[in-house]
Amino acid sequence: MVGTMQQVVLRRYAQGSPRAEDFALVEGPVPVPGDGEVLLKTLWLALDPLIRFAIDEKRLSGVTQVHPGEVMYGPTVSRVVASNHPGYGVGDVVEDRTGWREYAVVAPDKADWRGPPRKLDPGLAPVSTALGALGMPGQTAHACMIGIGRVQAGETVVISAAAGAVGTLAGQIGKVLGARMVGIAGGRAKCAALLELGFDAAVDYKATDFPDQLKAALPGGADVFVDNVGGEVMLAVLPHLKRGARMPVCGFIAYYGMGMEGPGPDRLPGFFRTIMAKGLEVRGFGGFLVGGQQALDDIAGWMREGRIVTPEAVVEGLAAAPDAFAGVFGGNAHVGKLLVRVAAE
Ligand SMILES: NC(=O)c1ccc[n+]([C@@H]2O[C@H](COP(=O)([O-])OP(=O)(O)OC[C@H]3O[C@@H](n4cnc5c(N)ncnc54)[C@H](OP(=O)(O)O)[C@@H]3O)[C@@H](O)[C@H]2O)c1
Repeated sequence: MVGTMQQVVLRRYAQGSPRAEDFALVEGPVPVPGDGEVLLKTLWLALDPLIRFAIDEKRLSGVTQVHPGEVMYGPTVSRVVASNHPGYGVGDVVEDRTGWREYAVVAPDKADWRGPPRKLDPGLAPVSTALGALGMPGQTAHACMIGIGRVQAGETVVISAAAGAVGTLAGQIGKVLGARMVGIAGGRAKCAALLELGFDAAVDYKATDFPDQLKAALPGGADVFVDNVGGEVMLAVLPHLKRGARMPVCGFIAYYGMGMEGPGPDRLPGFFRTIMAKGLEVRGFGGFLVGGQQALDDIAGWMREGRIVTPEAVVEGLAAAPDAFAGVFGGNAHVGKLLVRVAAE
């Protein structure tokens, strides 16, 4: 296949929260697959918050780094449109990390530690779920609640960024486990969506009475705090944690635009005092600690039984990706997994 395609490159390293102007939509040639290679046409692109780690000038953490002029990194679901590899046929649908572009060439036998493109079964579920419930966010939510959080029936769990991909799944997994689920999200509409998903209570951290809402939602305190946010939201939750509470630190999105030090005041002394005084079990996790294949099997089973639904927010076309990605950090209206439909299935 010869021709041109659209792709999004990084224009400049992000400072603070990313902005649409940090990216540029440009044309490039459709790549040609060589021996052992496969040409993929992107169908879906996931705008994961962790992509923010890739666009700092100085790499602080994360799996990859993108420099100005390079195509943006990102998880994708694609269709094989040409193949010189015996393991992949034209028409196969795969999940990989081919970035913000319409076409990409991959060499499955030269894949990095994250493995070759994962073949999907379109009969199992919509293929977009490979970027949400049946992919990394699902595995993460499973780990929050089961592997790391060890949530038991009857316990109370509070989740920040609860209306996001991880939070919406973790909340539903909590209900499967028999826990009382309290979600924290920004705005009334997101809180209403949480209640519809089965959360027992929803708290709006943007409301002026946020502390009162939190107190009312956690009358007996929380056994587990799945934190996706850090910052002011985390500080507000800490006083409500029970002695010995578990705190899986899944993410810290309130700090993603900062380096290793925030602007202050320094609230770490209070944080450490609480960890020690309450005997909190604080555990960050990611990568190999997420739920693995077991998580995908469990979630697929709960989906089949109708116990878990997979909310998705879809924006149309690659050109919309920069603005939508900026919105993840700047207040958006999206509930569930945020996806870009790059091409019709
Ligand atoms: N450890 C791992 O392996 C792993 C894997 C996946 C994700 N994560 C992390 O888990 C978190 C959630 O991921 P996700 O995929 O669910 O994200 P998502 O679907 O994109 O949702 C992110 C939500 O975070 C909220 N948010 C953004 N900035 C905020 C701030 N300053 N204060 C409070 N809330 C803020 C926004 O919702 P509101 O409108 O409610 O503010 C936003 O929609 C992120 O921190 C992500 O990096 C970690």
